[in-house]
Amino acid sequence: MSKKTLLLLLVSLFLLALAACGGGGGDTATDEPAGDTAADTGAIGDAANGEKLFSQATIGANNAPGCITCHSLEPDVVIVGPSQAGLATRAATRVAGMSAADYIHQSIVEPNAHVVEGFAEGLMYQNYATDLTEQEINDIVAYTLTLK
Ligand code: HEC
Repeated sequence: MSKKTLLLLLVSLFLLALAACGGGGGDTATDEPAGDTAADTGAIGDAANGEKLFSQATIGANNAPGCITCHSLEPDVVIVGPSQAGLATRAATRVAGMSAADYIHQSIVEPNAHVVEGFAEGLMYQNYATDLTEQEINDIVAYTLTLK
C-alpha cells in the first residue's frame, strides 16, 4: 500500500515537472516579441556580427574595402566618408518618412540615392549590394543603429 502511494506521488511529481516545463516553454514563446524590439529599432540583423564586418579592412565576396577604411567612429573625423559617430540619430532625420534603418540600408546598397552634403557622389564603394549577403547588410545596419 505504501509502495502504491509512493508510486502515485512520483507520478504526480513527474506530471508537475512536465507541466512546469510546458509552462516555461510557453513563457519563452510569449517572450518571443523580442521581435518587437527589433521592429522598434528596425534592426533585424546581428549587431555583434555587424560590428565585426564594419571594422574589417576588407569584407565580402570580392574583398571590398571595409566601412572602417572610409568611415571613422570618432566624431567629426573624415577619412574618405563622413564620421559614423551618431549615425543612428542622424540617419533618422536624413529623409522625411524614412526610418534610420531603411536609410542606412539604402546608403549601403544604393550609395548614390542620397549623397551627404559636402561629399562627392560615387566616392563610397558601390558594389556592396552584390558583394555582401542580405544578412551581412542587415547585420551592419543593426550595428550602425547602435551608433547614437
Ligand atoms: C571608399 C570609401 C567608403 C567605403 C568603403 C564606405 N563608405 Fe560609406 N560613404 C562614403 C562617402 C564618401 C559617403 C558620403 C557620400 C555619399 O553619401 O555617398 C558615404 C556615406 C555613407 C552613409 C551615409 C551617411 C550619412 O551621414 O548620411 C552611410 C550610412 C554609409 N556611408 C555607410 C557605409 C557602410 C555601412 C560601409 C561599409 C559596408 C561604407 N559606408 C563603406 C565612403 C565610403
